[in-house]
Amino acid sequence: MNLDRRTVLSGIIASAIASGLPFRALAAAEVARVDDLIKRMTIEEKAGQMTCLADSFRPFNPPNPQVGIQDEKRLSDEIRKGRVGCLFNGIGVAGARKAQELAVNGSRLGIPLLFAGDVIHGLKTIFPVPLGEASSFDPGLAQRTARAMAIEATAAGLHLTFAPMADVARDQRWGRVVEGAGEDVTLTSLLTAARIRGFQGRDLRKDDSLLACPKHFAAYGAVAGGLEYGNVDISDETLRETHLPPFSAGFSAGALTTMAAFNEINGVPATADRTLLTDILRGEMGFHGFVFSDYTADEELIAHGFAEDERDAARLAVLAGVDMSMQSGLYIRYLPDLVKSGAVPMGTVDVAVRRILYVKMAMGLFDNPWRSLDENAEKSRIETSGHRALAREAGARSIVLLQNDGVLPLDAGRKQKIALIGPFGEDKTNLYGPWAFYGDPGKGIDVASGLREAMGDAELLSVMPGCGIQDAIDGGIEVAVKAAKDADIVILAVGEAQDMSGEAQSRTTIEIPPAQQALADAVAAVKKPTVVLLRHGRALAIHGGVANANAVLATWFLGSEAGNAIADVLFGKVDPSGKLPVSFPWESGQEPFFYDRKSTGRPVLARGSTEYKARYATTDNSARYPFGHGLSYTQFALDRLQLSDPALRWDESVTITARLTNKGKRRGSETVQLYIRDRVASRTRPIREFKKMERVTLEPGESRAVRFTLARADLEFVGAGNRRLAEPGVFDIWVGQSSEDGLHGQITLYAAELPQG
Ligand code: NOJ
Repeated sequence: MNLDRRTVLSGIIASAIASGLPFRALAAAEVARVDDLIKRMTIEEKAGQMTCLADSFRPFNPPNPQVGIQDEKRLSDEIRKGRVGCLFNGIGVAGARKAQELAVNGSRLGIPLLFAGDVIHGLKTIFPVPLGEASSFDPGLAQRTARAMAIEATAAGLHLTFAPMADVARDQRWGRVVEGAGEDVTLTSLLTAARIRGFQGRDLRKDDSLLACPKHFAAYGAVAGGLEYGNVDISDETLRETHLPPFSAGFSAGALTTMAAFNEINGVPATADRTLLTDILRGEMGFHGFVFSDYTADEELIAHGFAEDERDAARLAVLAGVDMSMQSGLYIRYLPDLVKSGAVPMGTVDVAVRRILYVKMAMGLFDNPWRSLDENAEKSRIETSGHRALAREAGARSIVLLQNDGVLPLDAGRKQKIALIGPFGEDKTNLYGPWAFYGDPGKGIDVASGLREAMGDAELLSVMPGCGIQDAIDGGIEVAVKAAKDADIVILAVGEAQDMSGEAQSRTTIEIPPAQQALADAVAAVKKPTVVLLRHGRALAIHGGVANANAVLATWFLGSEAGNAIADVLFGKVDPSGKLPVSFPWESGQEPFFYDRKSTGRPVLARGSTEYKARYATTDNSARYPFGHGLSYTQFALDRLQLSDPALRWDESVTITARLTNKGKRRGSETVQLYIRDRVASRTRPIREFKKMERVTLEPGESRAVRFTLARADLEFVGAGNRRLAEPGVFDIWVGQSSEDGLHGQITLYAAELPQG
């Protein structure tokens, strides 16, 4: 592939034109300015632009192991010498201005620094974890929260966030499930694009535009056994069909950077995989921005057993297509000599530097190195009441009502006595989730506070942990049982601590810790109406007193307004409308488990025998709560499925309509989902594939037609030769309320003329 200046440039221009938003093509003068700089840069200054280091100027709260330069003085020297191009994970305008001053006025060429950070679901105002927010099935909401995060992050001196995570998570044991949009490729693609649009805004040069970095490229969510940093053994087709599309969606939405994944794929670590990072990423997918390594991932090529030593690791990473090395310092240490010795062509380095400088240029850093470094903005744009209100709205929209026998909604007017039992009732340290380390946990609203506010009469609420998150408390269960007996309603707040999901938090089981399960079982024996509030960063396998409660809600880690959002839903101020972005299996051992699995040659059929069928001997291989499931306080019914034509001609489309009726007594919202199944294909297809969704709000008794359009492109898959193709034939379609129900119909895709008669 030709990686010269023209390719990079025309790529940037083409992407600008193709996406329309959010960045413009560079002007000729800007290109000339980059050319001129590259001519004047020494190899050391080039390697410096390709180096990103942890920010020791600003309060640094590491989500990573501490390695490399950790003090301000050494870092200042490096900046003055032009040996660093990007700092990450520090916040605060004053520190950033100090660092930028050194780069702009203290270094030979004055190239501004890029300030990056992990703003995953909020800076100071914390929104629900991305997996939780995915339950809204609402790209519009994801875009709004991303915009709010960008407004705060850029007010705190950041230019770029290492987000959104675009990895499709196929195994719930993997801790990083919490950071993405779940198990499905289409939902992840839609939300990835929405978040990028929100982060970047309409104009990259604006002070509040936060560059996005969809990560981790690629297939990190397919690690074997859900083991963090692990291996991926995957077919070319599955890679392209399941794991790459969210990145393509992100690039089309205007993302100009991405991050290579920690994992290896088919024996080659992503960080050293030229086929992946150059041929596929740039050649097939048309990406024209720059690639970060993940944290010290280039150095880790040695531990992978892929590089001989640090020098070799730097060589492999840069030749593969990693433009910016994060934290290891390998590029600055080894690139000068690698180029001198001919092991790495200067042209390769120049292309990488050009990509980085184009991005800095596109976001206006050369014209205004002080953009996003404004003390007034820092005072006025962070944790505003508007952002808190949005966090509350997003929190309520992220809750999924998994089951309800009618105990919910609660009625504050009835003055019922509530016992709030479990380690998460008054806990503030596990409200935010594992990726919100800039937020102040003290400012979060816990469940008890949210309930008290909603109940009006604080005396009616008794609160006790009953046990710790992992450990029993002496006498805790007895006190909890007594409180349950004295109450009219029990609310059990149980689940995972926030450090049980996130990076490096893979688990062998995805269950409620035993101490909490024992508490739940003891409280269940009291037989009071019981509502379970699950706190979690992944799908869970629930059992006993937790699963058998009168109502169960998935409440994830909801962020700053968690307690208020939960109270809004419990008391019916907000009708629950979330849908699961991940399937909840019956048992941990079913993982990896996802709804779009294959039939096998011996599927278990409804009402059929289970002998010699594709199932575990001990568990039915279905979901307790499937992808797309989520109840409301009202009841919705679908009928009248109609197709504009059961025949879909090659270049045309069909319209599918169904009638949704609110049969209950309350106003509510339902997300109607469209699924397909390709009956026969040259590569076996999943039993269902999620394609489209439509959110509808209806008054009691009201009906509305929901309309979807299907065209050939919606029926495509990746077939032989890695080509996307659709094959003529019969397709099942379902219009439903989850991945396991729905009105069923069929369409036939015809290649050419329709048969006569
Ligand atoms: C490692 C994580 O994998 C990545 O997602 C994150 O952005 C970096 N650390 C930087 O903190």
